[in-house]
Amino acid sequence: MRQAGRYMPQYRKLRERHSILDLCHSPELAAEVTLQPVERLGVDAAIVFADILLPFEPLRLGLGFQAGEGPHLDRPIRDAADVERLPSFDIDAELGYVLDAIRLARRALPVDVPLIGFAGAPFTLASYAIEGGASRTFTKTKRFMYQTPDAWHLLLSKLADVVGTFLAAQARAGAHALQLFDSWVGCLSPDDYRTYVQPHSRKALSLAGKSQVPLIHFGTGTATFLEDFAAAGGDVISIDWRMPLDAAWSRIGNRAIQGNLEPAALLAPEPERSRQVSDILARAGRRPGHIFNLGHGVLPETDVAAVRAVVDLVHGG
Ligand code: CP3
Repeated sequence: MRQAGRYMPQYRKLRERHSILDLCHSPELAAEVTLQPVERLGVDAAIVFADILLPFEPLRLGLGFQAGEGPHLDRPIRDAADVERLPSFDIDAELGYVLDAIRLARRALPVDVPLIGFAGAPFTLASYAIEGGASRTFTKTKRFMYQTPDAWHLLLSKLADVVGTFLAAQARAGAHALQLFDSWVGCLSPDDYRTYVQPHSRKALSLAGKSQVPLIHFGTGTATFLEDFAAAGGDVISIDWRMPLDAAWSRIGNRAIQGNLEPAALLAPEPERSRQVSDILARAGRRPGHIFNLGHGVLPETDVAAVRAVVDLVHGG
């Protein structure tokens, strides 16, 4: 998930002098931010500092980040012609700075801390590409999907090629595991997931899977179609906090699971915070193949000491 970010004073300090895109574009700075949570929190793995929206730069959608408002696209996708016009590009030439950040971070990390590379899933990327930014209802995305299904499938298929290839390149650069983020897929019905999204996620994961490193398939709001979500692929299935870990695990069969602390539980006072952590550990029951994690990213309001306390509790428990 997002390990670095505004909740960390060290990160905020760097952000006073550099925009988020500057941090991403500089392999040295990105590697430095990648290491911050490992040092401060004592987590077992690092995730490279980058963003799922970076491929929108070579796709010429006009990516920018506005203070407090999140990502913004100057040229969102409006119709089939926009999809047709999407340029193909060379990953090494256009996103090589992420691969360089991976190489640098790998060299700087302790040998027992693996590095996770990542990319956005076709649906979540398409939602930003069509909405032009964040959305609560995904109205433009769903209208596009229903009204122009051919253009929709072409868009997701192109995005699947981009992210699948990008993930494989990250593994070649040294990432020990890869995570595909389908952050907003839970806004869909189970039927629509199967029809409009699943084949494309499957393609992205299968392209990434050629690199032979473990794949983590991340989603939120997937409780109503978890089996279909898992069937798209991934060695590890990530779940949010809206379902109990043991119930979810029994639905995905013989696979590893990631999750599932409610991010807002880090705002809860003791003993409630520790109670929720212990409940997840009890539901995992020391079965191998559980990656303890939040169900989604760390909220900016979170106290770093609370995150550290959870890491220590998980390690001690
Ligand atoms: O933990 C890390 O350091 C890894 C880096 C990372 C970022 N984005 C940096 C970032 C990762 C893994 C992401 C993934 C990402 N980006 C996702 C998928 C995971 C999720 O949280 O659902 C999504 C949907 C995005 C798109 C994105 N980037 C949004 C919606 C925003 C704005 C929201 C916000 O919190 O402001 C960003 C900006 C962004 N990317 C930040 C960070 C640390 C925010 C902090 C800042 O403005 O400096």
